[in-house]
Amino acid sequence: MTRLSLAVIALAGLHSVAAITTSNAEASFNTLLQWYNHTNGLFVPSTGWWNSANCITAIADLAKIDAQVNIRAQTIFPETWVLAQLYNLQMQKVFGPGYLVTTFYSDIFPEFPPGWNRPPPLQMTGFLNDYYDDEGWWALAWIAAYDVTNNPQYLATAQSIFEDMKKVYGTTGCGGGIWWNRAQTYVNAIANELFLDVAAHLANRSGRSSAYYLSWAQKEWTWFKNSGMINSEYTINDGLDNSCKNNGGTVWSYNQGVILGGLTELSRATNDAQYIDEAKKIADAAIAALTTNGILHDPCEPNCGADGSQFKGVFARNLQLLQQASPEARYKQFLQDNADSIWAHDRNANNELSLIWSGPFVQTANASTQSSALDAITGALAVAQT
Ligand SMILES: *[C@@H]1O[C@H](CO)[C@@H](O)[C@H](O)[C@H]1NC(C)=O
Ligand SMILES: *[C@@H]1O[C@H](CO)[C@@H](O)[C@H](O)[C@H]1NC(C)=O
Ligand SMILES: *[C@@H]1O[C@H](CO)[C@@H](O)[C@H](O)[C@H]1NC(C)=O
Repeated sequence: MTRLSLAVIALAGLHSVAAITTSNAEASFNTLLQWYNHTNGLFVPSTGWWNSANCITAIADLAKIDAQVNIRAQTIFPETWVLAQLYNLQMQKVFGPGYLVTTFYSDIFPEFPPGWNRPPPLQMTGFLNDYYDDEGWWALAWIAAYDVTNNPQYLATAQSIFEDMKKVYGTTGCGGGIWWNRAQTYVNAIANELFLDVAAHLANRSGRSSAYYLSWAQKEWTWFKNSGMINSEYTINDGLDNSCKNNGGTVWSYNQGVILGGLTELSRATNDAQYIDEAKKIADAAIAALTTNGILHDPCEPNCGADGSQFKGVFARNLQLLQQASPEARYKQFLQDNADSIWAHDRNANNELSLIWSGPFVQTANASTQSSALDAITGALAVAQT
């Protein structure tokens, strides 16, 4: 945004002027790139496999509104697309309290605990692994990259990932939905929201196949809405227990976020405002439940591990989509307040952005905390004219 347009907004007496600027976003982006690994096309070892997909999405979202970043992004996407598929992923996910997952990798901190059997290396052809949520994050990354490049290879990658997720739809024993993992031990919100979100995004990018993806998005939403995962306060718990009942698992910010993007894209595909109404109920409930003085927190702070450090940006990114489709002053304010707070209180001298958006800056900042915070900064800039 230019200084002139900032001044115009100030004069118009709208909400307080965002302090965050395009150059702040570019500085955050440059810091993120210091963790990009040209050997594997990922942000490894700074962060993990699925987090790297979120880094790519964050970069693509900023590239949509920043021509300088777009130029760099055009060189990153093809490198990641080629190299990440050659990466030998060795990982295992473990649940902590409140269903907080910690992923252990062979070449990233935290190291595999001694005595654990290492799973065999898995070459990542097609961005498929043993976790359907990880697959969904990569599908969204390639859809975001497609949006800024129009490269059909990225769209085709997302479509083929979707097919793999779709294979397990309806095998959960809960009347529909997909599993979290290939081992079929858990049905949770994130994998199902991602399945919905990927289908809904594809429904508006797939030409004659759009109706196919739209029907899948609608089928998943009908199931999800009635699955019990959305509780009486309109927040979303982590997943379902073995009897297909809400397990009361922690209300994580990312589970309130992905659904907003899915519903917004569904509304775009159908021109039906009911999806926007549902999204706003969830967004308002999430903001009420997870903010203090307007700033977003996850219940795990300050010990969110290598996975929980990614969550909040996912909420911000998807609230941005909702805001662009159907603006509300309160959502714009939320994005601006969070971006401003990150910049003022959660940053070190190298423009590294850390875990706690209200501050203080806590060690360590890494590609996960950086990309997550960048989502909020991009969100604030992207909605400035809404
Ligand atoms: C990049 O990742 C590889 C493993 O894929 C690792 O051996 C190497 O040390 C990493 N490079 C940097 C600069 O961290
Ligand atoms: C969005 O999806 C709807 C339903 O399939 C379709 O009619 C519309 O053309 C799509 N829009 C785009 C831009 O693909
Ligand atoms: C990244 O930083 C966060 C916040 O300090 C931390 O929880 C996480 O474990 C770090 N990730 C890695 C892979 O070290």
